Amino acid sequence: TTILIVAAEAFPLAKTGGLGDAITGMARALIERGIAATILLPAYRGVARRLPGARVAARLEDLPGGDARLLAGTCPQSELPFLLLENDSLFDRSGLYQADDGQEIADNGLRYAALSHAAVRIARGLPGIARPDVVHAHDWHAALTPMLLREAGLHDVKSVLTIHNLAFHGQFPLHEAAAFGIPASCCGEHAAVAWDKLNFMKAGIRYADRVTTVSHTYAREILTPEFGCGLDGLLRERGADLMAIPNGIDTKLWDPSRDMQLGQLRYHAGDLSNKRLCKTALQREFGLRPDPQATLVVSGSRLTEQKMADVAVEALPAVLDAHPEMQVAFLGQGDRRLENALKALAQRYPERCGIHIGYDEARAHRLHAGGDVLLHGSRFEPFGLTPLYAMRYGTLPIGSRVGGMADTIQDPGAAAPLTDMAFANGLLFDGDSAQAMADAISRALHLRRHPTLWRAMQRNAMASDFSWLGAVGPYQELFDSLVAPAALEAP
Ligand code: ADP
Ligand code: GLC
Repeated sequence: TTILIVAAEAFPLAKTGGLGDAITGMARALIERGIAATILLPAYRGVARRLPGARVAARLEDLPGGDARLLAGTCPQSELPFLLLENDSLFDRSGLYQADDGQEIADNGLRYAALSHAAVRIARGLPGIARPDVVHAHDWHAALTPMLLREAGLHDVKSVLTIHNLAFHGQFPLHEAAAFGIPASCCGEHAAVAWDKLNFMKAGIRYADRVTTVSHTYAREILTPEFGCGLDGLLRERGADLMAIPNGIDTKLWDPSRDMQLGQLRYHAGDLSNKRLCKTALQREFGLRPDPQATLVVSGSRLTEQKMADVAVEALPAVLDAHPEMQVAFLGQGDRRLENALKALAQRYPERCGIHIGYDEARAHRLHAGGDVLLHGSRFEPFGLTPLYAMRYGTLPIGSRVGGMADTIQDPGAAAPLTDMAFANGLLFDGDSAQAMADAISRALHLRRHPTLWRAMQRNAMASDFSWLGAVGPYQELFDSLVAPAALEAP
């Protein structure tokens, strides 16, 4: 089976969040299972240079945004095969989706329409490039692909849309349709239009042969108005064509016993003495008092309302005041308002609250290693890779009971006998109130006063198996069923 993965991110070439990790992990696991998977990715600034020996595999004339080239090559770090869509007037920019000033790039619609059209050209057949059996499109950036495949009459190529985040639809003015190469016949509510705008995600949900999303709970949540972002009705219409295929994690990259970011301080579940030293190092790095007794609560994520950064700002002062043994370290970037609120918090609690604004992959590894607790509240969380990374490092996540976190974090709850926590791998709270978050943090601080129990929880967390190798099986079954449905139905 040949699969063309179409996505806006793939770690380490391009990443702003979990999408990049998920694409790379999934592609690697598919290839290990003998599936020929290739990733079609925009050649953002500097990306082509990171594929040594890349060759020009095709010239694509008259794509939205102008002529483009496809560069074929292998990424040395991930060892994955890529097709890069090169059109410097579209993709040679400093950011992926946002310019340096934090504003969305104005022609994102054109840029990602070009990506989907390139996928269709590949599906139609280009000399020297394998024709895919299935095109696997991810999130709104690639979501025009299924509709354009259908319009091109390519019925033998099947399509899957995976939703990593339903909150982003890719909405653009209707008058852009011609520039985006969207046929007039698709410019209605029956196809690519919602709320009088072009809506890439809607088109994908409407036309993909199958729609998947990245956790069981999120797959149920998005059928409701609360989480459906206005597309819940359409998702309900897809019935059994919508399914959950949970993500995995890269257990080699996120492994405290092999993590080069930890230098000599690598450790494993059987001996956590180096984890204590990682904590001291992290305390220094974030300007905190290097106190081994302190409970260090860390948080590393996009600073947005999705990630409840606003709730953390509201919840933390009272908890810090009530628990002198607590410290906080934040790594993140996002909404300027939230960045500033966290900076103010750090100023208010010198040596107890530290913050680094920015995107820093290496520091994220040290953060997961040095923390005692990961604070990861989300209003919605399609999957949530970060809490699983923290678990691998024996850092217990406090998550909100939504999406993937409801599936992966095991917590018998505050009402259960304390000894039941020996089966937990983290803590969950409900809703998005500052009180609920504060109570969960207090619960963690309380649990940490029971070293044996805490150690058992750390052991559970570190032993949890969320590797991609197991997770990718359902994708393989899905692709097989699409490519050879008759063979599967035969007696
Ligand atoms: P989402 O995709 O919604 O952002 P996930 O938890 O699934 O959430 O994935 C987030 C990924 O992005 C993780 O790999 C996390 O370490 C990384 N990340 C987020 N913010 C930062 C940051 N400021 N610096 C480094 N890595 C970050
Ligand atoms: C999205 C989601 C996150 C998920 C990631 C990978 O960015 O917000 O929950 O883990 O995609 O699927």
